Amino acid sequence: MAAASGHAVWLNPKMGKYLWWQYGVIYQIYPRSFMDADGDGVGDLRGITNRLDYLAQLRVDAIWLAPIYPSPMNDFGYDVSDYTAIHPMFGTVADFDRMIEAAHARGIRVILDLVPNHTSDDHPWFRESRSSRRSLKRDWYIWHEPAPDGGPPNNWLSEFGGSAWEWDVKTQQYYLHTFHRSQPDLNWRTPDVQEAMLDVMRFWFDRGVDGFRVDVMWHLIKDDQIRNNPLNPDYDGSHPYRRLIPIYQEDRPEVADIVAMMRGVADEYEERTLLGEIYLPIERLVAYYGPDGRGVHLPHNFHLLTEPWEARRLAEVIDAYERALPAGAWPNWVLSNHDFPRIATRVGPEQARVAAMLLLTLRGTPTIYYGDEIGMVDVAIPEESMQDPKAQNMPGFGLGRDGARTPMQWTAGPHAGFSVGAPWLPVADDYARSNVEVNLGADGSMLTLYQRLTTLRRSERALATGSYAAVPAAGDVLSYLREEEGRRFLVALNFGGTRASLAPPGLRLLGEVIESTHPRRRRKTIDGVVELDAHEGVVVRLA
Ligand code: GLC
Repeated sequence: MAAASGHAVWLNPKMGKYLWWQYGVIYQIYPRSFMDADGDGVGDLRGITNRLDYLAQLRVDAIWLAPIYPSPMNDFGYDVSDYTAIHPMFGTVADFDRMIEAAHARGIRVILDLVPNHTSDDHPWFRESRSSRRSLKRDWYIWHEPAPDGGPPNNWLSEFGGSAWEWDVKTQQYYLHTFHRSQPDLNWRTPDVQEAMLDVMRFWFDRGVDGFRVDVMWHLIKDDQIRNNPLNPDYDGSHPYRRLIPIYQEDRPEVADIVAMMRGVADEYEERTLLGEIYLPIERLVAYYGPDGRGVHLPHNFHLLTEPWEARRLAEVIDAYERALPAGAWPNWVLSNHDFPRIATRVGPEQARVAAMLLLTLRGTPTIYYGDEIGMVDVAIPEESMQDPKAQNMPGFGLGRDGARTPMQWTAGPHAGFSVGAPWLPVADDYARSNVEVNLGADGSMLTLYQRLTTLRRSERALATGSYAAVPAAGDVLSYLREEEGRRFLVALNFGGTRASLAPPGLRLLGEVIESTHPRRRRKTIDGVVELDAHEGVVVRLA
Protein backbone atom coordinates (compact mmCIF):
# COMPACT_ATOMS: atom_id res chain seq x y z
CA MET A 1 0.00 0.00 0.00
CA ALA A 2 1.19 3.50 -0.76
CA ALA A 3 2.61 5.23 2.31
CA ALA A 4 -0.05 7.92 2.16
CA SER A 5 -0.69 8.01 5.88
CA GLY A 6 1.83 10.76 6.49
CA HIS A 7 3.70 8.43 8.80
CA ALA A 8 7.45 8.52 8.81
CA VAL A 9 9.01 5.09 9.19
CA TRP A 10 9.44 4.49 12.91
CA LEU A 11 12.26 2.18 13.76
CA ASN A 12 12.00 -0.30 16.54
CA PRO A 13 15.38 -1.25 17.99
CA LYS A 14 14.35 -4.89 18.38
CA MET A 15 12.03 -5.55 15.46
CA GLY A 16 13.29 -3.41 12.60
CA LYS A 17 10.40 -1.07 12.08
CA TYR A 18 7.07 -0.54 13.70
CA LEU A 19 4.17 -1.74 11.63
CA TRP A 20 0.87 0.04 11.02
CA TRP A 21 -1.06 -2.12 13.46
CA GLN A 22 1.41 -1.15 16.19
CA TYR A 23 1.66 2.62 15.83
CA GLY A 24 -1.79 3.01 14.23
CA VAL A 25 -5.28 3.75 15.49
CA ILE A 26 -8.05 1.32 14.52
CA TYR A 27 -11.62 2.54 14.00
CA GLN A 28 -14.51 0.08 14.18
CA ILE A 29 -17.31 0.64 11.71
CA TYR A 30 -20.65 -1.07 12.18
CA PRO A 31 -21.54 -0.94 8.47
CA ARG A 32 -25.31 -1.10 8.95
CA SER A 33 -25.17 2.15 10.91
CA PHE A 34 -22.28 4.22 9.60
CA MET A 35 -23.47 5.85 6.38
CA ASP A 36 -26.23 4.93 3.96
CA ALA A 37 -25.60 6.00 0.36
CA ASP A 38 -28.56 4.27 -1.31
CA GLY A 39 -31.32 5.47 1.01
CA ASP A 40 -32.68 2.10 2.16
CA GLY A 41 -32.08 2.96 5.82
CA VAL A 42 -29.17 0.54 6.23
CA GLY A 43 -25.57 1.70 5.84
CA ASP A 44 -23.44 0.44 2.95
CA LEU A 45 -19.98 0.33 1.39
CA ARG A 46 -20.51 3.38 -0.81
CA GLY A 47 -21.49 5.26 2.33
CA ILE A 48 -18.21 4.25 3.96
CA THR A 49 -16.24 5.29 0.88
CA ASN A 50 -17.96 8.67 0.93
CA ARG A 51 -16.87 9.23 4.51
CA LEU A 52 -13.22 8.21 4.20
CA ASP A 53 -12.10 11.83 4.20
CA TYR A 54 -13.73 12.25 7.58
CA LEU A 55 -11.79 9.23 8.84
CA ALA A 56 -8.56 10.55 7.38
CA GLN A 57 -9.18 13.83 9.24
CA LEU A 58 -9.68 11.83 12.41
CA ARG A 59 -6.23 10.35 11.67
CA VAL A 60 -7.23 6.73 11.90
CA ASP A 61 -4.86 4.24 10.33
CA ALA A 62 -7.26 1.35 9.82
CA ILE A 63 -10.95 0.59 9.71
CA TRP A 64 -12.44 -2.69 10.89
CA LEU A 65 -15.81 -3.50 9.36
CA ALA A 66 -18.29 -5.78 11.13
CA PRO A 67 -19.47 -8.49 8.66
CA ILE A 68 -20.55 -7.39 5.18
CA TYR A 69 -21.17 -10.84 3.72
CA PRO A 70 -24.46 -12.35 2.52
CA SER A 71 -26.49 -13.28 5.58
CA PRO A 72 -30.11 -13.75 6.66
CA MET A 73 -29.20 -11.13 9.30
CA ASN A 74 -30.56 -13.04 12.28
CA ASP A 75 -27.48 -11.84 14.15
CA PHE A 76 -26.93 -8.83 11.89
CA GLY A 77 -24.28 -10.37 9.70
CA TYR A 78 -22.60 -12.66 12.24
CA ASP A 79 -24.64 -15.41 10.61
CA VAL A 80 -22.77 -15.72 7.31
CA SER A 81 -24.29 -17.62 4.38
CA ASP A 82 -21.44 -16.95 1.91
CA TYR A 83 -17.95 -16.00 3.06
CA THR A 84 -16.64 -14.82 -0.29
CA ALA A 85 -19.29 -12.38 -1.45
CA ILE A 86 -20.84 -9.07 -0.39
CA HIS A 87 -24.42 -8.75 0.89
CA PRO A 88 -26.38 -6.79 -1.77
CA MET A 89 -27.61 -4.57 1.08
CA PHE A 90 -24.02 -3.36 1.48
CA GLY A 91 -23.23 -3.19 -2.24
CA THR A 92 -21.26 -5.17 -4.78
CA VAL A 93 -17.78 -6.58 -5.02
CA ALA A 94 -16.96 -3.61 -7.26
CA ASP A 95 -18.09 -1.25 -4.47
CA PHE A 96 -15.84 -3.19 -2.14
CA ASP A 97 -12.83 -2.91 -4.46
CA ARG A 98 -13.44 0.83 -4.83
CA MET A 99 -13.68 1.22 -1.06
CA ILE A 100 -10.37 -0.59 -0.49
CA GLU A 101 -8.67 1.44 -3.19
CA ALA A 102 -9.99 4.73 -1.83
CA ALA A 103 -9.04 3.77 1.73
CA HIS A 104 -5.53 2.76 0.73
CA ALA A 105 -5.11 5.99 -1.24
CA ARG A 106 -5.67 7.79 2.06
CA GLY A 107 -3.29 5.58 4.01
CA ILE A 108 -6.16 3.74 5.71
CA ARG A 109 -5.96 -0.06 5.99
CA VAL A 110 -9.03 -2.26 5.85
CA ILE A 111 -9.74 -5.06 8.32
CA LEU A 112 -12.66 -7.44 7.77
CA ASP A 113 -14.54 -9.53 10.28
CA LEU A 114 -13.99 -13.26 9.94
CA VAL A 115 -16.68 -15.42 11.54
CA PRO A 116 -15.15 -18.91 11.69
CA ASN A 117 -16.93 -20.38 14.73
CA HIS A 118 -20.30 -20.75 13.07
CA THR A 119 -22.13 -20.21 9.80
CA SER A 120 -25.72 -19.32 9.14
CA ASP A 121 -28.05 -22.33 8.98
CA ASP A 122 -28.73 -21.02 5.49
CA HIS A 123 -25.12 -21.60 4.40
CA PRO A 124 -24.90 -24.33 1.70
CA TRP A 125 -22.39 -26.16 3.94
CA PHE A 126 -24.96 -26.52 6.69
CA ARG A 127 -27.81 -27.29 4.34
CA GLU A 128 -25.74 -30.15 2.98
CA SER A 129 -24.63 -31.24 6.45
CA ARG A 130 -28.17 -31.46 7.77
CA SER A 131 -29.54 -33.17 4.66
CA SER A 132 -28.60 -36.65 5.91
CA ARG A 133 -26.44 -38.42 8.46
CA ARG A 134 -24.46 -39.74 5.51
CA SER A 135 -23.82 -36.32 4.00
CA LEU A 136 -20.22 -35.73 3.02
CA LYS A 137 -20.36 -32.56 5.08
CA ARG A 138 -21.98 -34.14 8.14
CA ASP A 139 -18.78 -33.76 10.15
CA TRP A 140 -18.39 -30.11 9.18
CA TYR A 141 -20.71 -29.31 12.10
CA ILE A 142 -21.06 -30.73 15.60
CA TRP A 143 -23.80 -33.34 15.63
CA HIS A 144 -24.62 -35.61 18.55
CA GLU A 145 -27.07 -38.25 19.68
CA PRO A 146 -29.56 -37.20 22.34
CA ALA A 147 -28.95 -38.02 25.99
CA PRO A 148 -30.58 -41.29 27.15
CA ASP A 149 -33.69 -39.33 28.17
CA GLY A 150 -33.96 -37.88 24.67
CA GLY A 151 -32.84 -34.43 25.79
CA PRO A 152 -29.75 -32.48 24.68
CA PRO A 153 -26.43 -34.39 24.73
CA ASN A 154 -25.04 -32.37 27.64
CA ASN A 155 -25.68 -29.25 29.76
CA TRP A 156 -23.92 -26.70 27.54
CA LEU A 157 -25.67 -23.35 27.26
CA SER A 158 -25.95 -20.91 24.38
CA GLU A 159 -24.60 -17.37 24.81
CA PHE A 160 -27.95 -16.28 23.40
CA GLY A 161 -30.01 -18.18 25.99
CA GLY A 162 -31.19 -21.74 26.55
CA SER A 163 -29.46 -24.97 25.58
CA ALA A 164 -26.63 -24.83 23.05
CA TRP A 165 -28.19 -27.83 21.29
CA GLU A 166 -30.95 -27.81 18.72
CA TRP A 167 -32.88 -30.92 17.69
CA ASP A 168 -32.96 -31.73 13.99
CA VAL A 169 -36.17 -33.64 13.30
CA LYS A 170 -35.17 -35.01 9.93
CA THR A 171 -31.87 -36.64 10.93
CA GLN A 172 -32.78 -37.22 14.59
CA GLN A 173 -29.64 -35.69 16.11
CA TYR A 174 -28.76 -32.48 17.91
CA TYR A 175 -26.42 -29.84 16.50
CA LEU A 176 -24.40 -27.38 18.58
CA HIS A 177 -24.94 -23.63 18.40
CA THR A 178 -22.95 -21.48 20.81
CA PHE A 179 -25.01 -18.48 19.71
CA HIS A 180 -28.40 -18.32 17.98
CA ARG A 181 -29.94 -21.61 16.86
CA SER A 182 -29.60 -20.31 13.30
CA GLN A 183 -25.79 -20.12 13.85
CA PRO A 184 -24.61 -23.76 13.91
CA ASP A 185 -21.02 -24.21 15.12
CA LEU A 186 -18.50 -25.49 12.60
CA ASN A 187 -16.44 -28.49 13.61
CA TRP A 188 -12.85 -27.26 13.58
CA ARG A 189 -11.55 -30.79 14.14
CA THR A 190 -12.47 -31.55 10.51
CA PRO A 191 -9.52 -30.79 8.20
CA ASP A 192 -11.82 -29.76 5.33
CA VAL A 193 -13.37 -27.08 7.54
CA GLN A 194 -9.94 -25.75 8.40
CA GLU A 195 -8.95 -25.63 4.75
CA ALA A 196 -12.18 -23.99 3.67
CA MET A 197 -11.89 -21.19 6.23
CA LEU A 198 -8.18 -20.60 5.60
CA ASP A 199 -9.06 -20.26 1.92
CA VAL A 200 -11.64 -17.61 2.83
CA MET A 201 -8.82 -15.65 4.43
CA ARG A 202 -6.68 -16.02 1.31
CA PHE A 203 -9.58 -14.91 -0.88
CA TRP A 204 -9.81 -11.55 0.91
CA PHE A 205 -6.08 -11.11 1.44
CA ASP A 206 -5.71 -11.53 -2.34
CA ARG A 207 -8.26 -8.74 -2.79
CA GLY A 208 -6.08 -6.40 -0.73
CA VAL A 209 -7.61 -6.74 2.73
CA ASP A 210 -5.05 -5.85 5.41
CA GLY A 211 -6.30 -8.03 8.23
CA PHE A 212 -9.09 -9.81 10.02
CA ARG A 213 -10.81 -9.40 13.31
CA VAL A 214 -11.58 -13.01 14.20
CA ASP A 215 -14.98 -13.40 15.83
CA VAL A 216 -15.20 -15.35 19.13
CA MET A 217 -11.73 -16.81 18.72
CA TRP A 218 -11.67 -18.40 22.18
CA HIS A 219 -14.79 -20.43 21.32
CA LEU A 220 -13.42 -22.08 18.19
CA ILE A 221 -12.91 -25.59 19.49
CA LYS A 222 -14.83 -27.58 22.10
CA ASP A 223 -14.09 -30.55 24.30
CA ASP A 224 -14.06 -33.67 22.10
CA GLN A 225 -15.74 -35.70 24.86
CA ILE A 226 -18.43 -33.02 25.29
CA ARG A 227 -18.17 -33.22 29.08
CA ASN A 228 -20.73 -31.34 31.18
CA ASN A 229 -19.74 -27.91 32.42
CA PRO A 230 -19.66 -27.45 36.21
CA LEU A 231 -22.18 -25.20 37.94
CA ASN A 232 -20.97 -21.70 38.72
CA PRO A 233 -21.17 -21.30 42.51
CA ASP A 234 -20.72 -17.52 42.15
CA TYR A 235 -23.48 -16.98 39.59
CA ASP A 236 -24.88 -13.48 40.14
CA GLY A 237 -27.98 -13.77 37.98
CA SER A 238 -26.73 -11.26 35.42
CA HIS A 239 -26.54 -13.50 32.34
CA PRO A 240 -28.07 -16.98 32.03
CA TYR A 241 -24.97 -18.28 30.20
CA ARG A 242 -22.92 -17.72 33.35
CA ARG A 243 -24.94 -20.26 35.36
CA LEU A 244 -22.23 -22.74 34.35
CA ILE A 245 -18.47 -22.36 34.09
CA PRO A 246 -17.90 -23.09 30.40
CA ILE A 247 -14.56 -24.87 30.82
CA TYR A 248 -15.40 -27.55 28.27
CA GLN A 249 -16.88 -25.15 25.77
CA GLU A 250 -14.33 -22.31 25.61
CA ASP A 251 -10.59 -21.66 25.59
CA ARG A 252 -9.70 -25.30 24.98
CA PRO A 253 -6.00 -26.15 24.58
CA GLU A 254 -6.43 -27.14 20.91
CA VAL A 255 -7.50 -23.61 19.97
CA ALA A 256 -3.81 -22.65 19.85
CA ASP A 257 -3.33 -24.90 16.80
CA ILE A 258 -6.15 -23.21 14.93
CA VAL A 259 -4.85 -19.77 15.77
CA ALA A 260 -1.42 -20.85 14.52
CA MET A 261 -2.96 -22.00 11.22
CA MET A 262 -4.63 -18.63 10.77
CA ARG A 263 -1.41 -16.84 11.61
CA GLY A 264 0.36 -19.01 9.04
CA VAL A 265 -2.01 -17.73 6.35
CA ALA A 266 -1.57 -14.10 7.41
CA ASP A 267 2.19 -14.63 7.25
CA GLU A 268 1.91 -15.77 3.63
CA TYR A 269 1.30 -12.06 2.90
CA GLU A 270 3.10 -8.81 3.73
CA GLU A 271 2.12 -6.76 6.77
CA ARG A 272 -1.27 -8.36 7.38
CA THR A 273 -2.67 -8.53 10.85
CA LEU A 274 -5.06 -10.60 12.96
CA LEU A 275 -7.14 -9.27 15.84
CA GLY A 276 -8.80 -11.85 18.03
CA GLU A 277 -12.07 -11.29 19.84
CA ILE A 278 -11.27 -12.87 23.21
CA TYR A 279 -13.12 -12.25 26.47
CA LEU A 280 -10.84 -13.89 29.02
CA PRO A 281 -8.91 -12.90 32.13
CA ILE A 282 -5.52 -11.31 31.38
CA GLU A 283 -3.41 -14.41 31.97
CA ARG A 284 -5.44 -16.41 29.45
CA LEU A 285 -5.89 -13.52 27.01
CA VAL A 286 -2.15 -13.12 26.53
CA ALA A 287 -1.81 -16.82 25.70
CA TYR A 288 -3.37 -15.94 22.33
CA TYR A 289 -0.21 -14.10 21.29
CA GLY A 290 0.98 -17.67 20.93
CA PRO A 291 4.42 -19.13 21.36
CA ASP A 292 7.11 -17.67 19.07
CA GLY A 293 4.79 -15.32 17.20
CA ARG A 294 2.41 -18.08 16.19
CA GLY A 295 -0.68 -16.44 17.64
CA VAL A 296 -2.73 -13.38 16.77
CA HIS A 297 -1.03 -10.02 16.51
CA LEU A 298 -3.62 -8.34 18.73
CA PRO A 299 -5.79 -10.40 21.08
CA HIS A 300 -8.42 -7.74 21.71
CA ASN A 301 -8.05 -6.47 25.25
CA PHE A 302 -11.52 -5.63 26.59
CA HIS A 303 -10.57 -4.82 30.16
CA LEU A 304 -11.38 -1.10 29.84
CA LEU A 305 -14.82 -2.22 28.73
CA THR A 306 -15.52 -4.83 31.37
CA GLU A 307 -13.87 -3.40 34.51
CA PRO A 308 -15.47 -0.83 36.82
CA TRP A 309 -14.51 2.73 35.91
CA GLU A 310 -12.31 3.40 38.92
CA ALA A 311 -8.79 4.80 38.90
CA ARG A 312 -7.32 2.30 41.37
CA ARG A 313 -8.89 -0.70 39.70
CA LEU A 314 -7.80 0.38 36.21
CA ALA A 315 -4.29 1.15 37.44
CA GLU A 316 -4.09 -2.46 38.65
CA VAL A 317 -5.48 -3.83 35.40
CA ILE A 318 -3.09 -1.82 33.23
CA ASP A 319 -0.10 -2.90 35.30
CA ALA A 320 -1.23 -6.51 35.35
CA TYR A 321 -1.64 -6.45 31.57
CA GLU A 322 1.75 -4.80 30.98
CA ARG A 323 3.37 -7.40 33.24
CA ALA A 324 1.62 -10.33 31.60
CA LEU A 325 2.58 -9.47 28.01
CA PRO A 326 5.00 -12.03 26.62
CA ALA A 327 8.25 -10.87 25.03
CA GLY A 328 7.61 -9.21 21.68
CA ALA A 329 3.83 -9.01 22.22
CA TRP A 330 2.19 -5.74 21.24
CA PRO A 331 -0.53 -4.39 23.60
CA ASN A 332 -3.94 -3.03 22.57
CA TRP A 333 -6.98 -1.42 24.19
CA VAL A 334 -10.70 -1.24 23.39
CA LEU A 335 -13.21 1.16 25.02
CA SER A 336 -16.48 0.25 23.32
CA ASN A 337 -17.83 -2.03 20.64
CA HIS A 338 -21.10 -3.14 19.09
CA ASP A 339 -21.80 -5.67 21.86
CA PHE A 340 -21.84 -3.41 24.95
CA PRO A 341 -23.20 -0.03 26.00
CA ARG A 342 -21.06 2.82 24.71
CA ILE A 343 -18.38 4.42 26.88
CA ALA A 344 -20.32 7.71 27.22
CA THR A 345 -23.34 5.75 28.44
CA ARG A 346 -21.32 3.75 30.93
CA VAL A 347 -19.29 6.59 32.43
CA GLY A 348 -21.08 9.82 31.48
CA PRO A 349 -20.04 12.64 29.15
CA GLU A 350 -17.27 14.10 31.31
CA GLN A 351 -15.54 10.82 32.00
CA ALA A 352 -15.93 9.88 28.32
CA ARG A 353 -13.37 12.63 27.63
CA VAL A 354 -11.02 11.19 30.24
CA ALA A 355 -11.58 7.78 28.63
CA ALA A 356 -10.60 9.16 25.20
CA MET A 357 -7.35 10.44 26.64
CA LEU A 358 -6.67 7.14 28.37
CA LEU A 359 -7.37 5.11 25.22
CA LEU A 360 -5.16 7.30 23.04
CA THR A 361 -2.21 7.64 25.40
CA LEU A 362 -1.85 4.13 26.79
CA ARG A 363 0.85 1.94 25.31
CA GLY A 364 -0.73 -0.19 22.62
CA THR A 365 -3.00 -0.04 19.62
CA PRO A 366 -6.30 1.70 20.39
CA THR A 367 -9.62 0.72 18.80
CA ILE A 368 -12.22 3.51 18.58
CA TYR A 369 -15.86 2.52 18.12
CA TYR A 370 -17.67 4.65 15.52
CA GLY A 371 -19.52 7.55 17.11
CA ASP A 372 -17.59 7.50 20.37
CA GLU A 373 -15.47 10.29 18.90
CA ILE A 374 -18.53 12.58 18.96
CA GLY A 375 -19.66 11.32 22.36
CA MET A 376 -22.60 9.29 21.06
CA VAL A 377 -24.70 7.65 23.75
CA ASP A 378 -26.90 4.56 23.61
CA VAL A 379 -30.45 5.10 22.48
CA ALA A 380 -32.90 3.78 25.07
CA ILE A 381 -34.83 1.27 22.97
CA PRO A 382 -37.48 -0.70 24.86
CA GLU A 383 -36.53 -4.36 25.02
CA GLU A 384 -39.77 -5.41 23.26
CA SER A 385 -38.83 -3.39 20.19
CA MET A 386 -35.21 -4.50 20.03
CA GLN A 387 -34.10 -6.41 16.95
CA ASP A 388 -31.13 -8.09 18.64
CA PRO A 389 -31.77 -11.84 19.08
CA LYS A 390 -29.98 -11.64 22.41
CA ALA A 391 -32.70 -9.32 23.74
CA GLN A 392 -35.44 -11.45 22.22
CA ASN A 393 -34.14 -14.75 23.63
CA MET A 394 -33.23 -13.49 27.09
CA PRO A 395 -35.74 -10.81 28.02
CA GLY A 396 -35.38 -9.14 31.40
CA PHE A 397 -31.58 -9.21 31.62
CA GLY A 398 -30.87 -5.93 29.84
CA LEU A 399 -28.54 -7.66 27.39
CA GLY A 400 -29.93 -6.21 24.14
CA ARG A 401 -27.35 -4.49 21.96
CA ASP A 402 -29.43 -2.29 19.63
CA GLY A 403 -28.84 0.83 21.74
CA ALA A 404 -25.12 0.91 20.96
CA ARG A 405 -25.65 0.29 17.24
CA THR A 406 -27.75 3.30 16.23
CA PRO A 407 -27.04 5.46 13.16
CA MET A 408 -23.97 7.66 13.11
CA GLN A 409 -24.96 11.28 13.71
CA TRP A 410 -23.49 13.30 10.87
CA THR A 411 -25.63 16.45 10.72
CA ALA A 412 -28.67 18.14 12.24
CA GLY A 413 -30.62 17.26 9.07
CA PRO A 414 -33.24 14.52 8.65
CA HIS A 415 -32.14 11.17 10.11
CA ALA A 416 -28.96 12.90 11.30
CA GLY A 417 -27.65 12.86 7.73
CA PHE A 418 -27.20 9.10 7.96
CA SER A 419 -29.76 8.24 5.29
CA VAL A 420 -32.51 9.86 3.24
CA GLY A 421 -34.69 6.89 4.18
CA ALA A 422 -35.99 5.74 7.55
CA PRO A 423 -33.04 4.18 9.45
CA TRP A 424 -33.21 0.54 10.58
CA LEU A 425 -32.65 1.66 14.18
CA PRO A 426 -33.78 4.97 15.71
CA VAL A 427 -31.47 7.96 15.63
CA ALA A 428 -30.60 9.40 19.07
CA ASP A 429 -32.87 12.24 20.21
CA ASP A 430 -29.95 14.59 20.78
CA TYR A 431 -28.65 14.35 17.20
CA ALA A 432 -29.32 18.01 16.39
CA ARG A 433 -26.86 19.02 19.12
CA SER A 434 -24.59 16.02 18.92
CA ASN A 435 -23.31 15.35 15.42
CA VAL A 436 -20.16 15.52 13.34
CA GLU A 437 -21.05 18.87 11.79
CA VAL A 438 -21.37 20.75 15.09
CA ASN A 439 -18.34 18.97 16.54
CA LEU A 440 -16.00 19.75 13.63
CA GLY A 441 -13.62 22.57 14.44
CA ALA A 442 -15.35 23.42 17.75
CA ASP A 443 -12.60 23.87 20.33
CA GLY A 444 -14.25 22.12 23.26
CA SER A 445 -15.93 19.36 21.28
CA MET A 446 -15.34 15.66 21.77
CA LEU A 447 -14.32 15.27 18.12
CA THR A 448 -11.71 17.99 18.47
CA LEU A 449 -10.33 16.24 21.55
CA TYR A 450 -10.10 12.96 19.63
CA GLN A 451 -8.47 14.67 16.66
CA ARG A 452 -5.94 16.48 18.83
CA LEU A 453 -5.04 13.24 20.57
CA THR A 454 -4.68 11.20 17.36
CA THR A 455 -2.61 14.03 15.89
CA LEU A 456 -0.42 14.13 18.98
CA ARG A 457 0.17 10.37 18.75
CA ARG A 458 1.40 10.84 15.21
CA SER A 459 3.78 13.65 16.04
CA GLU A 460 5.03 12.34 19.37
CA ARG A 461 5.99 8.74 18.96
CA ALA A 462 6.63 8.44 22.70
CA LEU A 463 2.84 8.39 23.01
CA ALA A 464 2.37 5.73 20.35
CA THR A 465 5.29 3.36 20.64
CA GLY A 466 7.16 4.65 23.68
CA SER A 467 7.70 2.84 26.95
CA TYR A 468 5.09 2.80 29.71
CA ALA A 469 5.73 3.24 33.42
CA ALA A 470 3.10 3.56 36.12
CA VAL A 471 3.32 6.67 38.29
CA PRO A 472 2.23 6.21 41.91
CA ALA A 473 -1.06 8.01 42.50
CA ALA A 474 -3.90 7.83 44.99
CA GLY A 475 -7.68 8.23 45.10
CA ASP A 476 -9.28 9.04 41.78
CA VAL A 477 -6.05 9.80 39.94
CA LEU A 478 -4.47 7.46 37.42
CA SER A 479 -1.06 8.42 36.09
CA TYR A 480 1.72 7.05 33.91
CA LEU A 481 4.78 8.06 31.94
CA ARG A 482 5.44 7.49 28.26
CA GLU A 483 8.93 7.91 26.93
CA GLU A 484 10.93 7.43 23.79
CA GLU A 485 14.25 8.80 22.63
CA GLY A 486 14.47 11.24 25.50
CA ARG A 487 10.99 12.72 25.04
CA ARG A 488 8.91 12.16 28.17
CA PHE A 489 5.20 12.65 28.75
CA LEU A 490 3.22 12.34 31.92
CA VAL A 491 -0.46 11.50 31.66
CA ALA A 492 -2.64 12.26 34.69
CA LEU A 493 -6.34 11.46 34.70
CA ASN A 494 -8.91 12.41 37.30
CA PHE A 495 -11.67 9.79 37.46
CA GLY A 496 -13.53 11.74 40.12
CA GLY A 497 -15.88 14.68 40.30
CA THR A 498 -13.74 16.75 42.67
CA ARG A 499 -10.39 18.47 42.20
CA ALA A 500 -7.30 16.37 42.77
CA SER A 501 -3.56 16.72 42.63
CA LEU A 502 -0.54 14.60 41.87
CA ALA A 503 2.95 15.05 43.29
CA PRO A 504 4.64 11.66 43.07
CA PRO A 505 7.67 11.31 45.33
CA GLY A 506 10.94 10.91 43.49
CA LEU A 507 9.70 12.30 40.18
CA ARG A 508 10.66 15.83 39.24
CA LEU A 509 7.55 17.26 37.66
CA LEU A 510 8.58 20.14 35.49
CA GLY A 511 6.87 20.72 32.20
CA GLU A 512 3.90 22.03 30.28
CA VAL A 513 0.34 20.78 29.84
CA ILE A 514 0.18 20.17 26.09
CA GLU A 515 -3.27 18.60 26.14
CA SER A 516 -6.21 18.70 28.51
CA THR A 517 -9.77 17.44 28.40
CA HIS A 518 -10.55 21.00 29.58
CA PRO A 519 -9.29 23.18 26.69
CA ARG A 520 -8.79 26.35 28.74
CA ARG A 521 -6.22 24.55 30.89
CA ARG A 522 -3.83 23.80 28.05
CA ARG A 523 -0.33 25.36 28.08
CA LYS A 524 -0.24 25.58 31.85
CA THR A 525 3.25 25.28 33.34
CA ILE A 526 3.77 22.47 35.82
CA ASP A 527 6.32 22.79 38.59
CA GLY A 528 6.23 20.06 41.22
CA VAL A 529 2.49 19.34 41.34
CA VAL A 530 -0.14 18.54 38.73
CA GLU A 531 -3.46 20.08 39.75
CA LEU A 532 -6.47 18.50 38.12
CA ASP A 533 -9.98 19.86 37.84
CA ALA A 534 -12.90 17.51 38.42
CA HIS A 535 -13.02 15.02 35.50
CA GLU A 536 -9.86 16.44 33.99
CA GLY A 537 -7.16 14.56 32.16
CA VAL A 538 -3.88 16.11 31.05
CA VAL A 539 -0.83 15.24 29.00
CA VAL A 540 2.25 17.00 30.34
CA ARG A 541 5.44 17.25 28.29
CA LEU A 542 8.23 16.94 30.84
CA ALA A 543 11.25 19.14 30.46
C1 GLC B 1 -19.22 -11.80 18.55
C2 GLC B 1 -19.80 -10.57 17.91
C3 GLC B 1 -21.25 -10.49 18.26
C4 GLC B 1 -21.95 -11.72 17.73
C5 GLC B 1 -21.29 -12.99 18.25
C6 GLC B 1 -21.73 -14.20 17.51
O1 GLC B 1 -19.25 -11.72 19.93
O2 GLC B 1 -19.07 -9.44 18.31
O3 GLC B 1 -21.84 -9.33 17.76
O4 GLC B 1 -23.29 -11.71 18.11
O5 GLC B 1 -19.90 -12.93 18.10
O6 GLC B 1 -21.18 -14.21 16.22
